[in-house]
Amino acid sequence: MYVNYPILSFFIFQTSSRKRKMEIIKKFKLGKLKLDYTKLLIEKAILARKNAYVPYSKFKVGAAIITNNNKIYGGFNIECSSYSPTNCAERTALFRAVYDGHRNFKAIAVVGGKESESCPLFSYTPPCGVCRQMLREFCHPLYFKIILAKSVDDFKIFTLDELFPLSFGPENLK
Ligand code: THU
Repeated sequence: MYVNYPILSFFIFQTSSRKRKMEIIKKFKLGKLKLDYTKLLIEKAILARKNAYVPYSKFKVGAAIITNNNKIYGGFNIECSSYSPTNCAERTALFRAVYDGHRNFKAIAVVGGKESESCPLFSYTPPCGVCRQMLREFCHPLYFKIILAKSVDDFKIFTLDELFPLSFGPENLK
């Protein structure tokens, strides 16, 4: 049921007890992402971060998202003098992929830190609320992985559902 009917299975998952959720996660190996993808995505995110346009915050973020058919798109944050139009690295990567026609994604890696910092970075940079909501538009909460990294050897992996539980998404409007 999980594989064939992801939306229905997501509703079942959301209403399950914590114990049942853990069983489901274990059964479908949701916590695991092939290590080669993980390292590659982190490398691409680190590379993307280099060109971040951050004259105001001086905080550079890089992201790399992988589609279901293994295409990788990098992105970085692009700031604006009137602040609110600023686009985060995650959304830059996602929008580039969506522009190219992709609608299904497996994972995103995110790296961030002060302009002066290079790898290994001091801390993990979790996606902001707006980015989590935007990822929710295209990515399955249970299957999509968010990789927070300080370097290729230091990272944590979460599902979108873990970072954005009880979320509102496209199926709520059906
Ligand atoms: N930023 C990102 O690019 N991604 C996040 O998830 C967190 C925040 C950017 C936005 C802004 O350019 C800078 O980091 C400081 O908030």
